[in-house]
Amino acid sequence: MRPWRSVLYIPGSKERALDKARGLDVDAIIFDLEDAVAVAEKDAARETLSAALRGGGYGSRARIVRINGFDTPWGADDLDAVAELEPDAILLPKVNSADDIRALDGKLRGDTRIWAMMETTHGVFNAAEIALAPKMQGFVLGTNDLAAEIGCETGGDRLPLMMAMQTCLAAARMGGIACVDGVFNAFKDEGGLRAECEQGRSLGMDGKTLIHPAQVAICNEVFTPSPDKVELARRQIAAFEEAEAKGQGVAVVDGKIVENLHVATARKTLAKAGVNA
Ligand code: COA
Ligand code: MG
Repeated sequence: MRPWRSVLYIPGSKERALDKARGLDVDAIIFDLEDAVAVAEKDAARETLSAALRGGGYGSRARIVRINGFDTPWGADDLDAVAELEPDAILLPKVNSADDIRALDGKLRGDTRIWAMMETTHGVFNAAEIALAPKMQGFVLGTNDLAAEIGCETGGDRLPLMMAMQTCLAAARMGGIACVDGVFNAFKDEGGLRAECEQGRSLGMDGKTLIHPAQVAICNEVFTPSPDKVELARRQIAAFEEAEAKGQGVAVVDGKIVENLHVATARKTLAKAGVNA
């Protein structure tokens, strides 16, 4: 199971940032050609990014390229330039339906997968079919775009976005794909970032998209199971196995019942922490 705790956006136009990312402790990088790149820079950014990807050095970090939409003057050229470099995935912005994914499906090389930006109300209501579309590997929540379209405020407890976020999450789980949270805009506010990471984790997100290297450590910390959680998971698995050996279907740990489903969750926790039972 691949971790998707920290997923850092890097503007495809920023050579220095593209280089810096080779040494950052992130699980995945979104190399952006879309909103982080100004219109006047689109063609140059495509070249800069292609050169960085050819140069390599990103190690085990997943390389995800966010191209411009096919309804813009740049989308097709973006895909032409990067498909042959066989990134781990292409991230398609403003996905409205499974048709958008199918339009991309036949144009990929090698094992390149597809991620969808979930950031339109259309996309939210079609989340289920999008999650089940070919080559899908994950959703990225575009909470800024979503908030703008819905007309709600960002920040705070994100209650106005909850229905959309949870719909996307449930669809992702149904399709067996990853789901990572939207960005926290105030990148110098560490307390605010931590709170939003914790909220995302409690909702069930696999991780969070980030915009600045200063956000990485907090995000990794929150989305990595704590030693307490790992220890509890190990005890749950052991207790359940012991109960099973005695012909019982339920164990008790710390005064709480442990059934099959809790053991499955405990195993996921260990996998996320990268440790054995
Ligand atoms: N990825 C990798 N490195 C980054 C980075 C990123 N997203 N953002 C900044 N850095 C690097 C800078 O290159 C700089 O490196 P250096 O010390 O080698 O020069 C260092 O981190 C410190 O950067 P800093 O000066 O604090 O940031 P900034 O003021 O230059 O830029 C932002 C701030 C928010 C504009 C910038 O972080 C950014 O462009 N983030 C990504 C935005 C984005 O992709 N948005 C689209 C999705 S919402
Ligand atoms: Mg967007």
